[in-house]
Amino acid sequence: MNFPTETLKEGKIKILVPKLEAFAKKPSDYAPSKAPVFFNPIMELNRDLAGLALQAYQRLVDREISVCEPLAGCGVRGIRFAAEVKGVKKVLINDINANAFKLAKHNVQMNKLEKCVTVKNEDANLLLAHYGAPRRRFDAIDIDPFGSPVPYLDSAIRALRNDGLLALTATDMAPLCGVHPRACVRKYGGKPLRTEYCHEIAIRLLAGCLATTAAKYDISMRVLFSHSTHHYSRIYARTNYGAKKADETIKNMGYILHCFKCFHRENAKKVFHSEHSGKCSECNSKLSFAGPLWLGRISDKHFCELIKEEARHKALKQGGKIRKILALIRDEAEAPITYYVIDKLSERLALPGPSVKTVIEALKDEGFQAYLTHFNPKGIRTDAPSKNVMKILQVIN
Ligand SMILES: C[S@@+](CC[C@H](N)C(=O)[O-])C[C@H]1O[C@@H](n2cnc3c(N)ncnc32)[C@H](O)[C@@H]1O
Ligand SMILES: [Zn+2]
Repeated sequence: MNFPTETLKEGKIKILVPKLEAFAKKPSDYAPSKAPVFFNPIMELNRDLAGLALQAYQRLVDREISVCEPLAGCGVRGIRFAAEVKGVKKVLINDINANAFKLAKHNVQMNKLEKCVTVKNEDANLLLAHYGAPRRRFDAIDIDPFGSPVPYLDSAIRALRNDGLLALTATDMAPLCGVHPRACVRKYGGKPLRTEYCHEIAIRLLAGCLATTAAKYDISMRVLFSHSTHHYSRIYARTNYGAKKADETIKNMGYILHCFKCFHRENAKKVFHSEHSGKCSECNSKLSFAGPLWLGRISDKHFCELIKEEARHKALKQGGKIRKILALIRDEAEAPITYYVIDKLSERLALPGPSVKTVIEALKDEGFQAYLTHFNPKGIRTDAPSKNVMKILQVIN
């Protein structure tokens, strides 16, 4: 390579990557995007989970699978799929950047995976279009772009076989979390909202966008798994052909109504239904809204169990952290939509923030459901109305 590189180990593979220190000139520089080929070591956890989810899917469908990673960078993700996931027959990795293509090819050879992994150097949409016909399609596609995956959604859906798995990363958190709401409406077709649970809204906007895009092709989808940090949102969806099922999928679209005054929130099929004409049912203040977005499940409990089972057998650097995240996601999979952030409510009451555990116990004592959430260590999902949560916070203190 004609730029500084180094060899790292990630999962079961060795990988040649750009030497990031050589490309960050100032402390504020984000080295992965300054390098001639994109590589972000921080995303290892994202890639670990991608391999575990792909293995869980492969066990579920119980057949040999083909996988495509059309935006592969140095190839680390796709090569790990080939090396670590049982039942993977073929992996196609691709990047438009000529340096990335060279590096990925080198990495495939270094790991002796030439028989299983093919590397291409094309535009992702052009590549996926070649695989849009029946019997050419992939079992699984992983879209891991800079920013939004939306420009690749149509071609990815068309290149996915019936009962396929589509994994999407979105790193454009400013639009999805409501800092740039107009960009979000343009890209995802739904309005975001700057609330304490904006990261859940981000996942729901992404899932909603996928559901409506798939429906255009008479394809239904179910979200099997999703996770999120402050830097990115990630979803895994299973897609199936059939107009009727696609109609059913679309029924999961709706809105979240939110009151910034009293923290009340509710789901709605229409933005404002007539009973309260845009006013909060609790305090009569103006309601804000997010959507249209996905109101269905954002993780499937059974699929989380399968991923957890895979994680049990893998020696991963961040195994402990991964198992913790998986347990949280499994436990919140069937919990009520949206969560309260305890510190935010306490701040409004000018009270010190109690421990999340204490609040959960108090909610349960009053007969409410209460769950932790992986989205926020101070977050609680509950069916309790906001006024009851506030009351509990006052009593505890
Ligand atoms: C976030 S990086 C991929 C990281 C990689 N998936 C990983 O796990 O390390 C996004 C990649 O998309 C590539 N890219 C951007 N636009 C593209 C396009 N239209 N077609 C194919 N690749 C593209 C970039 O060159 C970059 O390597
Ligand atoms: Zn209110």
